[in-house]
Amino acid sequence: MTRPLGQTQTDVTILGYGAMELRGAPRGPEIADEDAGRLLNAVLDGGISLIDTSPDYGRSEELIGRYVGHRRAEFFLASKCGCLLEVPADAPPPYPHDYSPGNVRAVVERSLRRLGTDHLDLVQVHMSPSRATLEENHTVQTLQALRNEGKVRFIGMSGILPDLPDHLAMNVFDAFQIPYSAVQRDHENLITEAAEAGAGTLIRGGAARGAASEEKNWRTGPLTQKPGLGQRNWESSGIEEVLADAGMSTMEFVLRFTLSLPALSTTIVGTANPAHLAANIAIAEKGPLPADLYEEAKKRLPQ
Ligand SMILES: NC(=O)c1ccc[n+]([C@@H]2O[C@H](COP(=O)([O-])OP(=O)(O)OC[C@H]3O[C@@H](n4cnc5c(N)ncnc54)[C@H](OP(=O)(O)O)[C@@H]3O)[C@@H](O)[C@H]2O)c1
Repeated sequence: MTRPLGQTQTDVTILGYGAMELRGAPRGPEIADEDAGRLLNAVLDGGISLIDTSPDYGRSEELIGRYVGHRRAEFFLASKCGCLLEVPADAPPPYPHDYSPGNVRAVVERSLRRLGTDHLDLVQVHMSPSRATLEENHTVQTLQALRNEGKVRFIGMSGILPDLPDHLAMNVFDAFQIPYSAVQRDHENLITEAAEAGAGTLIRGGAARGAASEEKNWRTGPLTQKPGLGQRNWESSGIEEVLADAGMSTMEFVLRFTLSLPALSTTIVGTANPAHLAANIAIAEKGPLPADLYEEAKKRLPQ
């Protein structure tokens, strides 16, 4: 199942792949190179047509280049910019970023080398800098120059509140990467605004990090600026009784709730687990939730 990515003239699968889980130790779980390679090929074999990565995700870009570089024509490749060439080894996230022309250009050019490609389909400004920071650093002009040189096809923003409304008003981004799920609906109206303005939308956190799944049961939390809020809203909503009546698993519900958002182009779900990948592909094939369940869920899970 595909949808247009805004006005890029490209259709992308509603389920994309977020390659952060391939970052490896010390910032993520260990993953052997061959396992990462098998997973990436399973992503493409499963019909997924969009992969999202970042220079900040450890070995992710390098593994994509090594294991699916030869299949480059099969997928829309999105990475980020503003990250540093050297991520501090001992610092916890959020890592420092530098949006100046020299750093943005150097990091995009290194991404191309790591990914074994001559162009990124989409480069997204990482970590939602303010409009003032973007303007002081001439970041958009640098990205436009890279686009004119053929090194990137489209320019995007990984944006969140409070800066996202300013990013939308700049009217220069082809696509936005925005967090959203049934338990984190705070950006819902802004995602719709972005789509209505003609931009593509890459939803991250669309599986709520698996937190609501029976298997994980909130051992990992969704990205949220208010710790615990997603879990509290979920527990007080009574949604699990509705799902029990409908015979639907929580994981299926969470992913299909995200896919039900009309303004979504794709959701870039991350996983290092081949069984989870297969399950997510099977869920995405079912598409959005039945209309009555979607309406009931929207009433119960606060925005
Ligand atoms: N722009 C940014 O600042 C930014 C920040 C964060 C993420 N991202 C991008 O967005 C992507 C996704 O973000 P995210 O990791 O925050 O959210 P997510 O896709 O909602 O959650 C991914 C997590 O959910 C688990 N999961 C996936 N499918 C599952 C299933 N069927 N059952 C149980 N657990 C499942 C995965 O663990 P398992 O490995 O155990 O399956 C993984 O830890 C990242 O890979 C990255 O590309 C961007």
